[in-house]
Amino acid sequence: MIKGLKAREVLDSRGNPTVEVSLLTDKGEFTASVPSGASTGKHEAKELRDGSERYIGKGVLRAVENVNKKIAPLIVGKEVDPHEIDKIMIDADGTEDKSNLGANAILGVSMCAFRAEAIRERVPLFRYLSLQFDIKESIPIPCFNVINGGAHGRGGVSFQEFMIVPQEESFTENLRYATEFYHRLKDKILDVVEYGANSVNIGDEGGFVPEAQSAEDVLSLITSVDNKCSLIIDVAASEFFQEDSYIVDRKSLNKEELIAFYKKLIKLAPIMGFEDPLEEDDFVGWSKLKSELGDLLVIGDDLLTTNVKRMEKAKENDSCSGVILKMNQIGSVSEAIRAAKKAKDFGWKIVASHRSGETNDDFLADFAVGIGADYIKSGAPARGERVAKYNRLLKIEEAMYEY
Ligand code: PGA
Ligand code: ZN
Repeated sequence: MIKGLKAREVLDSRGNPTVEVSLLTDKGEFTASVPSGASTGKHEAKELRDGSERYIGKGVLRAVENVNKKIAPLIVGKEVDPHEIDKIMIDADGTEDKSNLGANAILGVSMCAFRAEAIRERVPLFRYLSLQFDIKESIPIPCFNVINGGAHGRGGVSFQEFMIVPQEESFTENLRYATEFYHRLKDKILDVVEYGANSVNIGDEGGFVPEAQSAEDVLSLITSVDNKCSLIIDVAASEFFQEDSYIVDRKSLNKEELIAFYKKLIKLAPIMGFEDPLEEDDFVGWSKLKSELGDLLVIGDDLLTTNVKRMEKAKENDSCSGVILKMNQIGSVSEAIRAAKKAKDFGWKIVASHRSGETNDDFLADFAVGIGADYIKSGAPARGERVAKYNRLLKIEEAMYEY
């Protein structure tokens, strides 16, 4: 039974306010905090930010107040049924994009409810999720963001994330490989004298932000460490799409030229996929790109926003072969898991994902295992809020067959 619910403002990894929620039941207190994106898709559920006279700028006090004054009266005193709690909040919000109560308010409560119920059922969170939703659990392959560009790096490179995807025998081995790669990459960047010492400063997700000026420069740095390790590039193309053109590394390209550029890049490095290679509303363009890139993974993030309706549209158009799932894009745990089930029906690869603004909450790791995600992206193997998820996966892998 729910005995109390309380939200507060805390800071995320960029130093911006975010929502933390605590839920009190007869089994104890359960806390969760909500991440926040920088290159958000325009079709995402709305995160409530204050910015009015009474409230200031980036604060989330309105979302906090919505938890404390509007959601708490609806659920305190009820049994902890996370599905029912999600439904109550979605109905009370009453909008398509959760702009009334705020996706950041609703998701915080939703995460707490799932945590609380897993404890009551005496199973770890990942197993509770997989049992509840009848999905086979599995440990995902991690995609480590080692170079940050675009909105996360603000250096000279337009593409947002260059991720290495090691294919070792276990998660533990993949993490070891990635940390060694990361440190070797740091040395390689420092070897390029004209980049200077600041080039090993890191971006929002922990990847380096070298003085490199192009995607080709970045690929040459990465392949100088290991030219066999698979890569995924999160292009985040909507960020540099202007009217009909894509402004890539200071050059203006049309759609056909951008696709040709991808074809050139795949000859330079073992790229296995692109995330958001075109802007977020061009379902038909995506489908053309997908057929031209053959077997490469084409992954929708801003295109799909963890939203089943948009996923259905992408399936009709054959726009992609993989999906990024971010719980805060849709605003509740149960809806994010329904999106995972839909992706499985479609035969798509699933990438469970953090946001560029994170906290030390490690719910994402259990979410990824519980939904049987193929991949997880949680940034570089560095920075506390990034490694929180990887460290939780180490523990899950160690204990998985003993629970
Ligand atoms: P965001 O970026 O969290 O800043 O939106 C992550 C991504 O685009 O995958
Ligand atoms: Zn993305």
